Amino acid sequence: MSIWRRKPLAQLLAEASESEKGLKRTLTAWSLVALGIGAIIGAGLFVRTATAAAQNAGPSVTFGFIIAAIGCALAGLCYAELSSSIPISGSAYTYTYATMGEFLAWIIGWDLILEYAVGAATVGIAWSEYLNNLLVNVLHTSPIPYEWCHSPFQSSGDLHGIINLPALGIVAAISLLLIKGTQESAFVNGLIVLVKVTIVILIIILGWQFINPVNHENYIPAATTYTDEAGLPHNFGGLMGILGAAGTVFFAFIGFDAVSTAAQETKNPKRDMPIGILGSLAVCTVLYILFAHVLTGVATIEDFRTTGKEASVAFAINKYMIGYEWLGQFVTVAILFGFSSVILVMLLGQSRVFYAMGKDGLLPSYFGDLHPKFKTPYKANLVILVIVGLFAAFVPGDVVGDMTSIGTLFAFILVCISVIVLRKREPNMVREFKTPWVPVVPILGVVVCLAMIYGLGWANWLRLIGWMALGFIFYFGYSKKHSKLGKEE
Ligand code: ALA
Repeated sequence: MSIWRRKPLAQLLAEASESEKGLKRTLTAWSLVALGIGAIIGAGLFVRTATAAAQNAGPSVTFGFIIAAIGCALAGLCYAELSSSIPISGSAYTYTYATMGEFLAWIIGWDLILEYAVGAATVGIAWSEYLNNLLVNVLHTSPIPYEWCHSPFQSSGDLHGIINLPALGIVAAISLLLIKGTQESAFVNGLIVLVKVTIVILIIILGWQFINPVNHENYIPAATTYTDEAGLPHNFGGLMGILGAAGTVFFAFIGFDAVSTAAQETKNPKRDMPIGILGSLAVCTVLYILFAHVLTGVATIEDFRTTGKEASVAFAINKYMIGYEWLGQFVTVAILFGFSSVILVMLLGQSRVFYAMGKDGLLPSYFGDLHPKFKTPYKANLVILVIVGLFAAFVPGDVVGDMTSIGTLFAFILVCISVIVLRKREPNMVREFKTPWVPVVPILGVVVCLAMIYGLGWANWLRLIGWMALGFIFYFGYSKKHSKLGKEE
């Protein structure tokens, strides 16, 4: 039994056409761009931007956004080729199974837990921050006591966290919605996209006049080290600071790959996939750079290290944009809905990956079971709820955020390599969209993603290695023996 066995392409494509039954090709380039933006704008922009400015780059977090966008665009072109040639759910996991064999497919499937499940936990924790902001600044009531909305690894003065209940609550609520089979309709998604883009543009335009030039004087701070409240050192300033910021705000772009999973429902994937993926990336990149420029101009780095560490955007508006309290309130309410839709997309993505792995025998087969009434992979959803819930309740947002970034960057690297491998192994396969300049684009994609992984620093490398070691144990202890493909062999 070889750990390098590959799922035959013909079998995959047969599964694809089977699962295509019932799906209609209705999506246009514009609906793909909207789908992408719906999944993209979230905690990355409204929480991680301030973190990256505080811990890594100051105002030059804007350059971090540029690097992250370049990495995403290069990987996005690779995603577009794979998704148009292997249009089946399971995303990068499925592509890798066909190209690089079971073991690497397992690694990527295990790694995608970091992108989707740990990512959902990160957004849940951000949701909890803004819920407190809603209670205090919009409803003018008392906040949730510190110990009930922070992880045990966080403290502030004499206060110590015990459990993050709101983060756990929102994750549980959305998991139950998913089990019932509530999928966001295109209309609701469109509405949320509209509201999210509106608040970002409003903050850029209205905030521009509140930029204090003093805050931008030291645009790229000199290279030093900043030690956070948990005692962890971060590269601050200089090129390393910008790379670290790129790794952190990379989180803000995660989700654009969700566009690639809709290849089967797209009218003209060859033309519309690249427009959908690159278009949503382009729109978000421009908005993100302007937004980060305004945010770091309005408030100071010191704010983001201390009192403005949480719900940072609302904090900056309330403290510095005098006369615009309504904007802070509007942003808070809108963000709570916006974050919820991002959590939904991520949990859905995670359940698709688990479902595909359950069907292949790499996870227990009950992950592939459908609910008798709702026809959803409810057992997978329940297991995901437990995993995401544990991270959301007990791990600090900065840690899960960076773990999501590093895990996703690793997945992107494997996707880039898959394109090169598949061109060699299956030169005649029908590709509705072809990545330009192979192997230059995939190789550059690998290089830029590696640079961001480097910028994220040793603590995150260790977390990734630890997570992968757990995955190895699971693979050799369970999956290798239960693999369907292995049994067929
Ligand atoms: N890009 C998504 C966010 O920022 C995951 O919340």
